[in-house]
Amino acid sequence: MLKGKKILLGITGSIAAYKAILLTRYLIKDGCEVKVLLTIAAKEFVSPLVLSTLSKNEVFSALATDNQWANHVELGRWADVFLIAPLSCNTLAKLANGLCDNLLLATYLSATCPIVLSPAMDEDMWLHPATKRNIDIVKQFGNYVINVNSGELASGLFGEGRMAEPEEIIDFLKSKVFRGSNLSGLNVLITAGPTYEALDPVRFIGNHSSGKMGFALADAAFMEGANVTLVTGPTNQSTSFAEIERIDVVSAKEMFDVCMARFSSIDVGIMSAAVADYTPIFVSSDKVKKKEDSWNIELTKTKDILFELGLIKRNNQFLMGFALETNNELENAQAKLSRKNADCIVLNTLKDKEAGFGFDTNKITILHKSGSIHNFELKSKTEVAIDIISFIHLNLNNE
Ligand code: CTP
Repeated sequence: MLKGKKILLGITGSIAAYKAILLTRYLIKDGCEVKVLLTIAAKEFVSPLVLSTLSKNEVFSALATDNQWANHVELGRWADVFLIAPLSCNTLAKLANGLCDNLLLATYLSATCPIVLSPAMDEDMWLHPATKRNIDIVKQFGNYVINVNSGELASGLFGEGRMAEPEEIIDFLKSKVFRGSNLSGLNVLITAGPTYEALDPVRFIGNHSSGKMGFALADAAFMEGANVTLVTGPTNQSTSFAEIERIDVVSAKEMFDVCMARFSSIDVGIMSAAVADYTPIFVSSDKVKKKEDSWNIELTKTKDILFELGLIKRNNQFLMGFALETNNELENAQAKLSRKNADCIVLNTLKDKEAGFGFDTNKITILHKSGSIHNFELKSKTEVAIDIISFIHLNLNNE
């Protein structure tokens, strides 16, 4: 989601500067290009060598060295975002008043990109009316300000003023600064994971679905501005954004009930769950004891959620199904597309190496009801999810 983004990271003199080292590492891992700008005071807390090694870039600090002038305008123009983390009380006051006595401040004053500030200071400083006023002023200038956390402070006191954790800062960049708008205002319902069909209080029939694809789709839809509801069977996945509404279910019946209740207010439905096709007719209320040599379990069909939603789908609703096939893939997927009245079907085949259940990668083909077929390369599930969401966006506009 942050891949290819150019982040200019400004670090000021605060004990929280140690977190900027981890932040740099995470940004690089997410595929960002990072350039670091340190104030003189920040050098007391973190070494330029560590930051240049992690960012794979020269670290900037002085406005000018003996024979070179640092081009602050170029730095500001290069960045997609200028993130100042930690922002000390002193630098905050300078930003609020337009002071320009170091490279970081000169860059701030000339930057044309969005600016994100992550303050860090002791509680007394944080609560001081001057600081509150300065925070209000920099917000009025249009800068983003990330909330401070409560907890143990450098002074040994407990209270407000801790800098946000690196993970929280990265989530902020994704969800506030770089969130797209292709699905803005649309309600998207996604099913994910397996379902478990109980046999008794301790046993169930399930499948190997990890839920990774559905969770990646929820993140990708959210990143394009959608209001996302994720209905998931049992999985250890987690969503990246607190704003995604997550509804945990266990059985196919529970997943069906939630989807039916929600569908009328949905614009886009993406049915990526591996829903059990059959469920035991009889569920024992006590644990079944090991008495007989064999145990015959009678199963009955579950409701097909995609099929039932296809029956009640309005023309302005877009419905996407998935098909996991092992043979006659295209033919079977085509049959599912028309039988279930979907707008498109995402086909996975277990024949493709490193694709589907359990893997972090997937290789898909999308069949559209118009008859068009779209093949995609083997990619990470995060990238596949982005492809699927942009396919939906393009096809929503072409309806
Ligand atoms: N599906 C569903 N509810 C079910 C079964 C499947 O919503 N009870 C949805 C899946 O989420 C997927 C699509 O239907 O989007 C196809 O699922 P799949 O298991 O591939 O197909 P089935 O219809 O179950 O057919 P088969 O198992 O015979 O291939």
